[in-house]
Amino acid sequence: MSAAEDGKRAAAERALAQVEDGTVVGVGTGSTVRYFIEGLARRRDDIQGAVSSSQASTELLEHHGIPVLDLNAVGPIGLYVDGADECDGQRRLIKGGGGALTREKIIAAAAERFVCIIDPGKRVDVLGRFPLPVEVIPMARSHVGRQLLAMGGQPVWRQGVVTDNGNWILDVHNCRFPDPADSETKINQIAGVVTVGLFALRPADQVLIGADGSL
Ligand code: A5P
Repeated sequence: MSAAEDGKRAAAERALAQVEDGTVVGVGTGSTVRYFIEGLARRRDDIQGAVSSSQASTELLEHHGIPVLDLNAVGPIGLYVDGADECDGQRRLIKGGGGALTREKIIAAAAERFVCIIDPGKRVDVLGRFPLPVEVIPMARSHVGRQLLAMGGQPVWRQGVVTDNGNWILDVHNCRFPDPADSETKINQIAGVVTVGLFALRPADQVLIGADGSL
């Protein structure tokens, strides 16, 4: 297994220690979360179930016999565990490499505690090395693209990808985000944007990095 995979698995195992018996757990999406779900399967009789952030994670949870619950039916969630594509020193993130950013942002907002699990390679000083995903209403793709271009980024349409919500993704290249909360607010305000993959207004409460790092 590569060092990155080792880091993902180790971070996921550490997050499992924070899962309390009898609770509903928010579950993110991606290859790091896959390790978390595998661990959660060992605890499936201890928890009420999971709220899932994507169709992919729902299928994985159900495959492991973990009940998948509707967010509307469970109220506030105590713990949400998810990966990220990038993380800065203030636990602000870029997410959405897997296209699940909208549901991820909803569960993060509904969670009392958001624990992010990453391998050490995801840690950056300034967000923006990873292209920023933006989910858009399909008819607004060109309009949103022009606005992002005017803001200094280079949006690229993730062609062939349709999100779980029936929308499209633009990946914004060559843009740095030294003030990610400000950028998140501005991009959110473009008509046709559903969700921007900056998680700065609601950052992670804790980031577990590989086997022993944390923020
Ligand atoms: C899914 O849309 C993303 O937000 C993921 O959380 C992110 O891409 C991290 O994925 P990996 O764990 O596969 O790197």
